[in-house]
Amino acid sequence: MSTDTINTNTMTPESPNLTGVPETMLWTLHNRASEMLRDDAILKDEKAYEIYRSIDYDFEGSFGKPDFSHAMRSLIFDQELKKFLQTHPNGVIVNLGEGLETQRFRINSPEATWFTVDLPESIAIRERFIQPDENHIHISCSALDTQWIDAIPTDRPVYITAQGLFMYFQEQEVKELFIEINQRLPGACLAFDNLPRWMSKKTLKGWKKTESYTTPPMPWGVNRDELKPLVESWIPGLQEFRPIKFTVPRGIWRYLMPILEAIPVVKNFGGGITAIQFAASERPDNPAKTDID
Ligand SMILES: C[S@@+](CC[C@H](N)C(=O)[O-])C[C@H]1O[C@@H](n2cnc3c(N)ncnc32)[C@H](O)[C@@H]1O
Repeated sequence: MSTDTINTNTMTPESPNLTGVPETMLWTLHNRASEMLRDDAILKDEKAYEIYRSIDYDFEGSFGKPDFSHAMRSLIFDQELKKFLQTHPNGVIVNLGEGLETQRFRINSPEATWFTVDLPESIAIRERFIQPDENHIHISCSALDTQWIDAIPTDRPVYITAQGLFMYFQEQEVKELFIEINQRLPGACLAFDNLPRWMSKKTLKGWKKTESYTTPPMPWGVNRDELKPLVESWIPGLQEFRPIKFTVPRGIWRYLMPILEAIPVVKNFGGGITAIQFAASERPDNPAKTDID
């Protein structure tokens, strides 16, 4: 059956049977897909909504009322990726820990090649709804098992995203992954988000998001002002380090956030989204080299 033609009215919803970090893909799906039901939606993702309706899971019971957070995050990641594709329409996109993200359906990229890297149980759920094809390749392995890098073509510019992933790793694991990408995919871009320390600590004590759902531990926490020196200590000579502004689209926080953001000590307690670019190698044939010379 083509998953592109799922009819949610006639299908029996399927139970995902996920636990631990893979279950968190349902949290982000809940927030992203629920935007479809709002008149003031910031993201309209029909594919996400279709998948959401096809899953038998108590989304509100686990994650509470939906909010804009993950839709806004996806919107930001989309904007960044679109900029890359404008310059590199045939680029290579690698989504680490992609879960049930449906970014490829939101972005028109007929010449690009997409790689999804996620744990085997997560890829199995994804493939109930989204099939790989020659331009959309699924790799079942941990992002920390760098065998996925072997599959990435090195003759085209590479753009890696990690939405809602690195917080589930130990800092040493994130560091080793950055070093490996820097060595093996020189010139690659990487967009990722991070949590502040206080929130990471909260999850280590067992953060009960609702009565029936405790989030998995998120051991990697780093405050905003610590991130640049930390990443630069791992990778000297980064081509770019660019924090991306997260805007609150509605509600009281839309007005409060800019005020709080203006207070450095408060600002530094926030998480964030960051785009980096690793330096291109000196190889004359390096596809990323022309971007930044
Ligand atoms: C919070 S969800 C985010 C999913 C998706 N990026 C999104 O924003 O909707 C975390 C994702 O990370 C994946 N994940 C957890 N550990 C992983 C690992 N070691 N390697 C690759 N993916 C992993 C989970 O399976 C899940 O899909």
